[in-house]
Amino acid sequence: MEEFNLSRRGLLLGAAGFAADAAFADPGTSRPAAESAITAADAGARAAPRRIIIDTDPGVDDALAIFLALRSPEVKVEAITPVAGNVPLDFTLPNALRLLEIAGRTDIPVAAGASRPLKRRLVTAAHVHGNNGLGGVEFPLPKVKPVAETAPQLIRRLVRASPGELSIIAIGPLTNLALAFRADPQLPSQIRSIHIMGGSLSGGNITPAAEFNSYVDPEAAQIVYRSGARITMIGLDVTRKVVLSEAQVGMLESSADPVGHAAGRIMRATLAQIRRSGLEGGQLLVHDPLALGSFIEPSFVRLQDLHIEIETTGELTAGETVGYRKAPIRRSAPWVDAPDAAAELPFLANARVALDVDSERFRSFLIDRLTHRSS
Ligand code: BDR
Ligand code: CA
Repeated sequence: MEEFNLSRRGLLLGAAGFAADAAFADPGTSRPAAESAITAADAGARAAPRRIIIDTDPGVDDALAIFLALRSPEVKVEAITPVAGNVPLDFTLPNALRLLEIAGRTDIPVAAGASRPLKRRLVTAAHVHGNNGLGGVEFPLPKVKPVAETAPQLIRRLVRASPGELSIIAIGPLTNLALAFRADPQLPSQIRSIHIMGGSLSGGNITPAAEFNSYVDPEAAQIVYRSGARITMIGLDVTRKVVLSEAQVGMLESSADPVGHAAGRIMRATLAQIRRSGLEGGQLLVHDPLALGSFIEPSFVRLQDLHIEIETTGELTAGETVGYRKAPIRRSAPWVDAPDAAAELPFLANARVALDVDSERFRSFLIDRLTHRSS
């Protein structure tokens, strides 16, 4: 019953958030597609960069997303908070530090996050990301160290210091955010927006039901979706359409920018791995950069306000994202011996969900940014 009440409170908070900030997108960011041949130089001339924290499990496509952020003047990366996911924290943490060293951005603090999900054993995706999380490509040991605070502590401190200013790009399991919200239940209302790569309304990639990030820590995802934070969900429905071509991998590899070149090496190794294993139909899907890309340029995706719930009790379906488009919000049929039948709730959106993507335009944007070309 308590869980139901918590959920209801979250829903109401969520609805208030949307109502208060009608378009949700920050002013000046929702431009029509035709106007958005956005070069880094154009962007530099625009408004002050928006401040973000990247919560991540690098991860080959996480690496691309982090590099994209570091090469995008529209955003200022305030912190990176690695979590266990694609590979254990023993790898995701040094990988985040490595990526910053490659980009020459060791000024950005990195805080160690959770080494395991809230309630479950860690399941990794080394079969895609390689045992080291970077496709097996060896980069030097990082010289910089993580900060002393934990990821949930750092997220909380930064958000509290600038209420309503920071956005979070969450591209791994949501354990760090859930821990921060548990410690500080008012924190979600202080976050400008959360852009999540995770979930799917069209089937999973780790089970038929669940997308990997939601699957790894469904309880954390449930906390975040019920928190009342302003959420944009970039799920497999759109990221499955972002496929890098071999030619684009070649462009990255031959880039003079160390960031583009490193991205190319990682993607070359991942492509080889995917072709060997036949995973993803041999296609080089890059999920995470779109969460950041659509934060920078909302017109890359088409969004709809939905009510998202996360399945946490299923034997086969834990981590499934269930998207309600209209009333009622109805749960599974009650058990015969349950004391009360579950109530139906009115429809209240708690997330903007990406349903379509201009993948061609986004892929060009990504490659241009990482290779310093202008489109
Ligand atoms: C997500 O899972 C991870 O393997 C990727 O890095 C991405 O965040 C895609 O399901
Ligand atoms: Ca990831």
